[in-house]
Formats: sequence, structure tokens, C-alpha cells
Amino acid sequence: MSDTPWWRRAVVYEVYVRSFADSGEDGLGDVPGIRSRLPYLADLGVDALWITPWYPSPLADGGYDVAEYCDVDPRLGSLADVDALLTDAHAAGLRVLVDLVPSHTSVEHPWFTAAVRAGPGSPERALYVLREGRGADGELPPNDWISAFGGPAWTRLVEPDGRPGQWYLHTFAPEQPDLDWSTEEVRSRFDEVLRFWLDRGVDGLRVDAVPAIGKDLTLPDAGHAPGALFESSSWVDSPQWDGDWVHDVVRRWRAVVDEYPGDRVLVSEAVVAGPERTSRYVRPDEMHTTFNFDHLHCPWDAVALREVVDATRVALDPTGAPATWVLSNHDETRHVTRYGREETGVGVMGFDGNAPSDLVLGLRRARAAALLMFALPGSAYVYQGEELGLPEVTDLPEDVLQDPTWVRSGHTVRGRDGCRVPLPWSGDAPPYGNGSGEPWLPQPASWAGLTVAAQDGDPASTLTLYRTALALRRSLADLVGEDLAWDDTDPQVLSFRRGSGFRCVVNLGADPVPVDGEVLLASGPLAAGQLPPDTAVWVRA
Ligand code: GLC
Repeated sequence: MSDTPWWRRAVVYEVYVRSFADSGEDGLGDVPGIRSRLPYLADLGVDALWITPWYPSPLADGGYDVAEYCDVDPRLGSLADVDALLTDAHAAGLRVLVDLVPSHTSVEHPWFTAAVRAGPGSPERALYVLREGRGADGELPPNDWISAFGGPAWTRLVEPDGRPGQWYLHTFAPEQPDLDWSTEEVRSRFDEVLRFWLDRGVDGLRVDAVPAIGKDLTLPDAGHAPGALFESSSWVDSPQWDGDWVHDVVRRWRAVVDEYPGDRVLVSEAVVAGPERTSRYVRPDEMHTTFNFDHLHCPWDAVALREVVDATRVALDPTGAPATWVLSNHDETRHVTRYGREETGVGVMGFDGNAPSDLVLGLRRARAAALLMFALPGSAYVYQGEELGLPEVTDLPEDVLQDPTWVRSGHTVRGRDGCRVPLPWSGDAPPYGNGSGEPWLPQPASWAGLTVAAQDGDPASTLTLYRTALALRRSLADLVGEDLAWDDTDPQVLSFRRGSGFRCVVNLGADPVPVDGEVLLASGPLAAGQLPPDTAVWVRA
């Protein structure tokens, strides 16, 4: 077991830094706040944290618009706070992954402000994707590419002399100009960014929006239909996404990471068309692991889930990389809410509207989904607050919404703020022990019963379910390997064995099903030895 690198079966907890824990009174989570809650995370039983961007940022996209890669936003802490966090996390047996955002900078990054000042044809401009427009006066964007947040992926610059000038490409918000990764200059600058964090002692990097790097820089039209959405999980041969040359860049990062001892890890965020394209990111000299968006986007349906599990394992087999499993993150509608809806699968980036949800049903399914995820071979991701069974906050007042999607969609798509509401730690009223100020997004009154303090020690709470599941996952020898054998069952029941005597059974059908063996853990009460609908159980056969 000790020969297996830690990341092959790690449970990684995603910390959305501005919402996790505020150490002060500005209503914004921060690095000292994370440090103060390390005992909670160690006790929860996770192996590592992935912390979303903490860099200086004008926050046009929640920190994914980086104005300086080798520093910490003063509102969130300092490099000294990071060092203290790393020391304490390591002492608590927790690894730490930072979030690298290479596809674009902020418009306020000095590289971009210098590029704007330096004018067309300059070496400074060569770092970005800047082009003349089409039309008689260059008044039309260079091509038809679309932004992930709605609207065109191009914005026209005002040149230093005040005239309208070149256009710059932004796959995301206009405040996030895309870098040109075909240039050696960009590549070598990022080698140094990687080394900066690896030298500080981070255990790895989660790399943001990797397929955006692989764009066709001859900039052909993509042929998008009018009003097309950015649904990269169904794009095949798109000139703006997942071109093969992105893998040269990935291999370069891997070479830098391999300079360091101690099982450092690279995790890619790559929302591409299906398991086979996804698996290309984890070939032996590329990333170590990649998020499983096919799992995250899968509806609550036994046949579909089994297909995802099998397709994931088949696609990864030739690469040797472990599978990952993930139910929620800071870009997606929380799965308690999703699973309580009629339509339980989702599109990417929260583009699934505001359909009504039965939250009692959603929570029952979410608890079952957690036991399924933790029983599968590979690594799993927990998004902060899912261990509390938090639902999406769907009724945030419009005037607090910050996700660029809200503005870019002409106020039709609310975006991702509803899964980013600050965590409730304790107490009966906001800010629920999350600092002492007014949280940057308002917390619902209904969260009083969902705080960590309210759930702590309650045998029926979701927090207790997660703690128990993670402790068992660590201690059961049957779960160490990467084997999985399905049982022959009713198609609406998922049942599989691991090791010599472990079985996980999940009932997604409408009727109770019998289960044999010693019950180790169940996501809800069993009735006379029968597993009710939307419930999962771990048994020793
Ligand atoms: C990734 C991040 C998301 C961000 C986008 C642009 O998808 O997870 O939050 O908006 O990249 O950086």
C-alpha cells in the first residue's frame, strides 16, 4: 500500500477560498481562515485540499482572473500565511494543491497592460492573442468564436492613441485575455510560476481550463449556430478547444513537476467530449489525474452511472492513470439540488436554469451518491459544504450576483454564485461563525440546522455520514486495490464487489431490494433488511 502514490486514491477537498472561512470581519474567506479549520478537515478524513485561486485579482471571475501569479491577494492573506498553512497542513497529514490558471490572465496583469501600451506588432503583444478585426474598418471580430460566459470571445482594444484598434481573444470574460501558448516566452514564464509554488512546498497543482490552450491560432470560424452555448463537452474538432498541441504544453508542465521529489501531482480541468478525449490528458508523461466531468454531469440513473463508471475505467486503462469521481464543484449546481429536480444531469457551468427541486429527495440521493463515489476505485473530490448536505442557494437577490455569466447572458442565466455562498460553521444566524462580518453572498436562514456545529455528533447527519465513510474507506483493506466486479442485478440497482468481501449496493429503482451481509454503513435507514429507493449500503459479504 505504501508503494502506491497518495494521489491514486486520495479524497481531495475543494476549498473555494472566499467562502470557506473568514478569519476576520470583511465577510470574505481567507488563508488564515483555512488554516484555522485544518483540524476540521483532518477530522473529516480527507487527504488533501485543492484551494481555488488566492492570487491578487480584480475578481471579475472569482479570482480566475489573475493579476499576479506569484503572490497572494492582500484581502486573502500573504505568502507568510501560505507558508504557515503549508506547515500546519503537512503536520496534520494533509496535502495542498494550488490552482494554476494558465489559459488567461486578468486585464490588470502587468503583462497585459504592457501589451496594450506597447502597441501592435510589439513583443509584449505577442504574449496574447491579438488580431486586426474584419470589415472595412476592422469593426468586426476576427472570427465567430464564443465566450464560455456568453457572447463573442473577442473584445476590441482602445489603442494608446485613443483610436479603436486590435481585438483580443478571451475564451472566458472580457477581463480574462487569452495567452498565446504557442510562444516559448509564455511557456518559460509559466515554468517559473510552477517552480515558485513547488519550491514553496505545495503538493501539486490543479490546472484550470487546460483545453482552452489548444486553440487553432490560424483562427478559423468555428461555425457556431446563432445563440450557441459554450458546451465543450459535446464539441468535436472545435478550433477553439482541445486541439492536439495542448498536450505538448501539458508535457512541459509535467517535466517541471518531475524535477521535484515527493509525489507532486498535476490535476487537469478538461471538459472535453467524453472519456477517450479526457484520457489523453493523463497519458504517462502528462497530468497525473483529471476531473471526471462525465460523472459529475451524469443523471441519477443506474444504467447511465454504470456506463460512466465502465467507460471511465476502459478509457483510462491504457494510460495507467486512476479514475476520479466528483459530484460538485464551484462551477456547478450543488448536487442535492440537482438530484431533487426532474432533470438530474447538468450542462457545464451552471447553465441548467432554476428548475424546482425536491430537496428531501435530493439529499437522500446525494447521500447515496456519496457512498457510491467513495466505494469506487480511484480518487474522489468533495466540494466544500457537500459534507453538510448543502443545497444550491437559488434565490440570491439579483443585486448581489457576481458571476460574469449573469451580465454576459443579458441577465438570463444566474450563473454559479448559488454554490459559492459562504459555509455555515456554527450559531443560529448569519454569518454562522464564518468570520464576524457580513458574508459576501448572503446565507439563507434555513442553514441554521445545517451548520457544522449542528451536525457534529448527530448520528443521522450528513457530516457524520461523510466522516464515517471516509474513515472506513481508509481502514478497509478491500478498498485499497483498483478492482471492481459488478453483480448481476436489476438494471436500476448498482451492485459491485471490491477486494475479497466488500460490496456496495445502490438502489436507484422505485422498490426496496433485499441486501445480504453485515451492514458497514448505509446512507439511510434500512427497512427489515431491505434497501429503500435512493439509498446506498456498504456490506461485508
Ligand atoms: C474554470 C474554473 C472557473 C473559471 C474558468 C475560467 O472552469 O473552474 O471557475 O470561471 O475556468 O478561468
